[in-house]
Amino acid sequence: MTDFPAFPPGFVFGAATASYQIEGAAREDGRGPSIWDTYSHTPGLVAGGDTGDVACDHYHRYPQDVALLRDLGVDSYRFSIAWPRIVPDGSGPVNPKGLDFYSRLVDELLAAGIEPAATLYHWDLPQALEDRGGWRVRATAERFAEYTAAVAAHLSDRVPRWITLNEPWCSAFLGYSIGRHAPGAREGRGALAAAHHLLVGHGLAVRELRAAGVREVGITLNLDRNLPATGSAADLAAVVRADTQHNLVWTEPLLAGRYPDTEEDTWGELITGQDFRRDGDLELISQPLDFLGVNYYRPIVVADAPLREADPALRTATDNRYAETRLPGVRHTAMDWPVAPDTFTDLLVSLKRQYGRALPPVHITENGSAENDAVSADGAVHDDDRVAYLRDHLAALRAAMDAGVDVRGYYVWSLLDNFEWAFGYDRRFGIVRVDYDTQRRTPKDSYHWYRKMIAAQPGRG
Ligand code: FCB
Repeated sequence: MTDFPAFPPGFVFGAATASYQIEGAAREDGRGPSIWDTYSHTPGLVAGGDTGDVACDHYHRYPQDVALLRDLGVDSYRFSIAWPRIVPDGSGPVNPKGLDFYSRLVDELLAAGIEPAATLYHWDLPQALEDRGGWRVRATAERFAEYTAAVAAHLSDRVPRWITLNEPWCSAFLGYSIGRHAPGAREGRGALAAAHHLLVGHGLAVRELRAAGVREVGITLNLDRNLPATGSAADLAAVVRADTQHNLVWTEPLLAGRYPDTEEDTWGELITGQDFRRDGDLELISQPLDFLGVNYYRPIVVADAPLREADPALRTATDNRYAETRLPGVRHTAMDWPVAPDTFTDLLVSLKRQYGRALPPVHITENGSAENDAVSADGAVHDDDRVAYLRDHLAALRAAMDAGVDVRGYYVWSLLDNFEWAFGYDRRFGIVRVDYDTQRRTPKDSYHWYRKMIAAQPGRG
């Protein structure tokens, strides 16, 4: 086929998942509870009352899932390690059975010729640490470093690529300000403290991974392309506040070693006089990285809006005087997210323009779409919309590379349909369908398309 975008030799194609979304076995082999167990078991918080207790039962079926990856022909598999399997109480003894599961998974991947890429934190904080303040307190970052050291001691010889945190925006702001993710809090300074302590935890984990001698260390951010609803000065100023909350709060400390100069305008009294930052933190946070992981799904359209809560003591950290509006004239996915691949190119090109040589090579660590797909009479899943989404976003990625952005890899989200957080099992992002009653896996048309695309790359197949 000639209509597949061609990527340079050595470009990494992969697929991604996360522990709580696929593993199940929530109470097995000494795993402790995480904030997502608590959140999903609280009535009314997750659609359909769904939990990750069983999920895709990947904990028991991982050999079958690795075989799906092998047949897909991917170079790399991005998975996450469940902290509460390794340190069930958040601090104290390490659970050998937890380490053993990931050790077996890694060996299975290596035997299939697939490079493991491990994420240390994809949101499943041990509940015991939340009970002691969670990411609001600095001690959690220190516990994260200890957990990282324990994992690295076991896996650093076989896992070349490491990601400290997945999408800290979601941990800090969906978790502690909007309350739509675990632990479900709606706070102002608590959420800003969480954002800072996540970055400190990242910095401490980078040190541990370097000490263990791993090949590549990075962090994954969900950077957003914020578009103004109109060309008015007020909407353009709202975009700056949205950029600060979504992007600059991470990229400025990580890549430039400074806090955003727009933070006072964005957070006002919530950020002034805060006491959670310490001397030396910026040096820790801005240690050089081997790559930046970027997750990208959709643009956000931003309009100016009044403060929802005038009293700073009651205000949340995401009340930044803007509102999200709809992007007209484009298809929306089952998440109701607009499909606009050109914004993916724009995001990457503007990131390069902003940070220049300070921007490390990029890996797209997630990209994909949720669609209302179903099994047809012929037994297949004809997910044409997902195929189009992937095709157009890979072409948009290629365009960013042609414009000078150094991108080294792309991981489709997700290998499997899985537990989509507050949406439960209702939203399907997999290129493989999972029947949750039987745990049967059915590769969708998008799986076959991705396999052909990889095989058609110059010098392969
Ligand atoms: C990202 C998450 C991932 C998945 C996708 C759809 O924000 O990292 O776990 O939920 O969105």
